Parts: sequence; C-alpha cells; structure tokens
Amino acid sequence: MQEKIVKTRTPTQEERDNYLQLSDTVFINPKDIIDRGINFLGIRRSGKSYGVGVLCEEFLDKKQPILIIDWEGEYYTLREKYPILIGALHDPYYADLPNLNPESTYQLCKFIVENHQSLVLDLSGKNTLERFTYLAKFLKSFYEVETDLRTPYILVLDEAHKIIPEKGLIRLKTLKAHQQQVEYWAYEIAVTGGKRGIGLIVATQRPAQVTKMVISQLDIKVVYKLFEPVDRGYLKTWLSTKQIDKVAAFKQGDFVLLGLDQPQFSHTKTRKTTHGGETPELKNKTRIPKMGQAIKELSILLAKAPEEIEEDADPELINRLEDKITTQKQTIKDQTRTISESKITEAGQKTIISEMRIRVTELENQQVSQEKLDALQDSLDSYKLKADNKIAGYKQTIRDLKDDLTTAYDELHTIEKYPELLQNLKEDMVEISNALGIDLFPSDIQEVMNERDEYKKQLDEANNNQRQEQEYIDTILSDAYVMDWIKGAKRKLNSFINSRTNHNLVLKKLVSSDDSIRYLPEDFVGLGVGTSTIKKYLEDFDGAGFAKKIERGKNGRASYSNNLSLWVSNNIRVMYLDAPNAVIETIVTDLKEFVITK
Ligand SMILES: Nc1ncnc2c1ncn2[C@@H]1O[C@H](COP(=O)(O)OP(=O)(O)OP(=O)(O)O)[C@@H](O)[C@H]1O
Ligand SMILES: [Mg+2]
Repeated sequence: MQEKIVKTRTPTQEERDNYLQLSDTVFINPKDIIDRGINFLGIRRSGKSYGVGVLCEEFLDKKQPILIIDWEGEYYTLREKYPILIGALHDPYYADLPNLNPESTYQLCKFIVENHQSLVLDLSGKNTLERFTYLAKFLKSFYEVETDLRTPYILVLDEAHKIIPEKGLIRLKTLKAHQQQVEYWAYEIAVTGGKRGIGLIVATQRPAQVTKMVISQLDIKVVYKLFEPVDRGYLKTWLSTKQIDKVAAFKQGDFVLLGLDQPQFSHTKTRKTTHGGETPELKNKTRIPKMGQAIKELSILLAKAPEEIEEDADPELINRLEDKITTQKQTIKDQTRTISESKITEAGQKTIISEMRIRVTELENQQVSQEKLDALQDSLDSYKLKADNKIAGYKQTIRDLKDDLTTAYDELHTIEKYPELLQNLKEDMVEISNALGIDLFPSDIQEVMNERDEYKKQLDEANNNQRQEQEYIDTILSDAYVMDWIKGAKRKLNSFINSRTNHNLVLKKLVSSDDSIRYLPEDFVGLGVGTSTIKKYLEDFDGAGFAKKIERGKNGRASYSNNLSLWVSNNIRVMYLDAPNAVIETIVTDLKEFVITK
C-alpha cells in the first residue's frame, strides 16, 4: 500500500522524528522531496522564502546536508543556529569563505560533499555576468562530484525566475552562454538528481516564469497567494473554484500543499532563525568546532594556487592551466628576447607603451562593436527572412498574373478571328445558295429589310440636318454683329437696373414670367414701390422694347407682358432672317439670367 505522506491528524513520534514539519498540521516525508522535488509558488512577499527557510531548518535539524543557491543573500541567517558554511562571491562580514573564485568550484564541491557539509552559496554583491559565470561552473562541479559520491543533498534555488527563466531575456552573448549552462545543469539535476540523491527545492513567483524543463520535474507544490487569471487556471488541476478563491485571498504565510494526497490548507510555522533579508545583523554566529576546522581546511584549499592542487583538481582545468602556463612562459621568453635584442631606449619604450594603449583601446572598441555587430546580424537575419517571405509572395503573384495574361491573350486571339470566320461563313453560304439555285433570304424578309434600310436612310438624313442646323446655330451665336447686339442689350437692361431704385425688382419679376401673363401696375405692389411709379417703369420698359403694352389687356385696362422673346427675335432676324428658334431661345435665356442674377 502507498505510504501516507500528508498527515492531517496529530503525527506519530516516528513522523515527528523523521518527517519535515512545515506547519502545525503539514508533515512531509524527506524522501518524497528527494524523489519528486518541491516547488514553492506565490506572489511577491507572500511568504515563499520564509517557507523555504522553515524547510531548510527542518532538514538541518535532521542532519540532512543542504546546498542553497542564494541569489539575493537572504539565507546566511541560518548560521544563527546551524553549522552551515556561508560562501560568498563578494566579501560580506558574515561570510566564512569570501571572494569565491570560479577556478576552484570543483575543490569546494568535493570538500563539502565528502564532509556532508551544508553550504549557503551567496551570489549577491556581484553583477549578473559574474553570478552566472560562477554558478555555471559550480553546478557542473557539484553534479560531477555527486555522480561519484552519491551523497543525499538538498539543492535550493530561490528566486528561480532569475536563475532559470523561461525566457532568456539576456542578449549579451557571453552572459547567455553561462545562463544556458546554468539552465542545463539545473535540468540535469532535476531529471537525474533523484538517482544521485539530490532533492530540488525551487521557489518562484509564478509558474510560467521558470523554464518548463525544470518546473515540470517538480511534483510537490507549496502554493502561497496567487490570484492572476493565468495562475488560477494553473491551479484548476488540483483545486475547485472555491478553493482557488481561497488561495487568492491568502494572507502572508498561508499556503496549500499540492501533489501529495489531498490538498492541505495551512499556515507556515514560525522560523527558528531570523528570516533573512530583513535584519542585516547576524545574531549569535555559532562557532561550532567542526565548522572551524572545515573553514580552516577549505580556506587553505581555496587559497592555494590551482597548480599546487593538481592531484585533486579537475583534469580539464589542469590541462587548460598547463596550456595557459606554457603559452605564458613562451610569451615571456619571446618578450625577453625581443627586449634584449632591440635594446630599446626609454623614449622608445614610452612610444611602445602609448602605442599599446591605443591598441588596447582599439581592441576594447572592437569588442563593443563586435557585440553591436552580433545584435545587428541577428536583426539583419530576421529582416532578411521577412523580406524573403515577402518577395516569395510577390513572385507568386507575378506568376499568377502572367498566367492570367497568357489566358487573356489567347482569348483575345480567338475573338479577333470571329469576324473573319463569319465573313468566310457568309461567303460559303452565298456560294452554296447560288450553286443550289435557292434564295438565301426569302422575299418577305427581303422586303422588311428594304423598309428598314429606307428608315435608316431617313434617320441618317435627319441626323445630318440636325447637325447642319446646330452648325448654323453656332455660326449665328458666334457672329460678331450678333454678339455686339447681345452686349448692347445687356447694357440697356443694366441701365434700367442701376438707374433707379427698385427698377430691378419690377424688371426681374417681369422678365422671369411667361409671355402670356398680363400685369396691371398694382400686380407689382409689395416690391416697395408705389403704383404710379411702377406704371412709369413699365412704360419705360415698353419704350425700350422688352415689355409690351396692351391697351385694355386686363380688366379693360392697359396692361403689360414680358416681350423679351419677341424683342430678341425681331432684332436677330433683322440680321439672320432664318435664324432657328434655338438661337432666339439661347439668347433670351442668357439675358434672363443676366437680369435675375444682377
Ligand atoms: N509564517 C509566517 N510567519 C510570520 N511571518 C511571515 C510568515 N510568512 C511570511 N512572513 C513574512 O512575510 C514577509 C514576506 O515573506 P517572504 O520574504 O518569504 O516573501 P517571498 O514570497 O519570498 O517574496 P519575494 O518574492 O519578494 O521574495 C516577510 O516579512 C516575512 O517575515
Ligand atoms: Mg523571496
């Protein structure tokens, strides 16, 4: 039967002795962590690092060696109570082994594993490149030592989204190379570490931020507060909507344990040492005799020049160092010879030095431009790819168009042949009908056709006449005398419009009305002019010719009508007796418009 791993009841003494206690009610079998790995998740400040710290204390209480990759320098406080070595890349006051050097990772790993020693590897205080450079070598060494010794270890990666991010955000080539090595060794440890006795604890804010290659290897989850929709979706594998709501409402330190039995809701128990990152002061750094000895031995070991510890060193490293030394010795030899041979003066040396400075600057610039060049090359490649795709698309379109064109050309050719074909057909038919002595077209059809031809002739004539008439109209309208007369008529009309106030209103009304309407003077009242004045105006218009007075025309009284057409007709037909009506109409319209728009 499968072993029950999460205890909701009061634990047995055996469990208290051998299991790891994360809270009042949650106990985890350490073997499960080694076999299956554990992942702490939660938003910022939700209590992950605190929980990881509790688990580390539990391991240390059980004398289980742990190795903490401490990106931010938060775990040195474990030293308040436990014999855990603090190694650091920089030189903080709390470090037992400060200024760690990437050349000696193998010695360091070999020593700690052989001695079942716990270690906090504090990577803070250095830049990202230095951290990754060191860590890549360290993880490789640790893995190699463990491959030989197979000592059960717990490896802790807090802030895993910075150490093994899902998206390699870093563009700098060297940095990327180191980061990929870190990812590779983390993956190796996650996948095959269990066999070597390495258990993995990984803490990160969100599951999607850490490379899936590693995160998918961790079966046990300790979930602190999470509420983003994506994260809620992630939790659906284990929890109901109601339970997910509960996770979204978690306070600091509240967690749910997943991946072992049923989900367990609980709250991280209090730590035995200070939670790091909060108090910079280390309380009672314990001086355990065994630790003192370990520190002494390690410090000596790490301080030795790498060639002195040849027997212990990584053979690959030795080879590299040997090569380096040989080259350096050769360089020194060469340089000594050059110097003695050339007997350079002091001034000459100065020149050489300044030349070398220039060369160094050049080389530095070159390195920068190499990076730029790489970045440019990358973007060039991507543009080239995009351009190639576009061009391929265009080429296809051109090919399609060509095909269409060929088809169209063929069709055109066929159509061009039709009239010729029809002509041939007609000739053939006439020949056949003559040969057979039959009428090709029956007589009644012939009659209808003749009639049609006659009408066609008449229509042509009519069109011809119309065209001739239009030409005649154009001739008249562009005749100099006619144009002069129109100008004079406009001058005359204009003199009436301008000479007296309200002349124009009466004139406008009159010329825009039908010739057959007869007006009495009072019909114009309302235009702001008195009846007798209007009568005077109308008499003037009549005198000029474009109004016509009719004695007893309306109600037995003298009345007036629009005489513009007749006036124009009389005057134009003096010049062109047969001027078509269209000429008169055109001129009348022109004059009317002239009056109305004034
Ligand atoms: N069980 C707990 N009891 C008391 N305090 C707690 C507990 N859990 C967390 N805290 C407090 O909550 C704060 C945040 O916790 P922690 O540093 O573990 O957050 P985190 O999830 O690691 O955040 P980050 O992602 O920023 O590293 C700390 O001040 C810590 O002391
Ligand atoms: Mg944290």
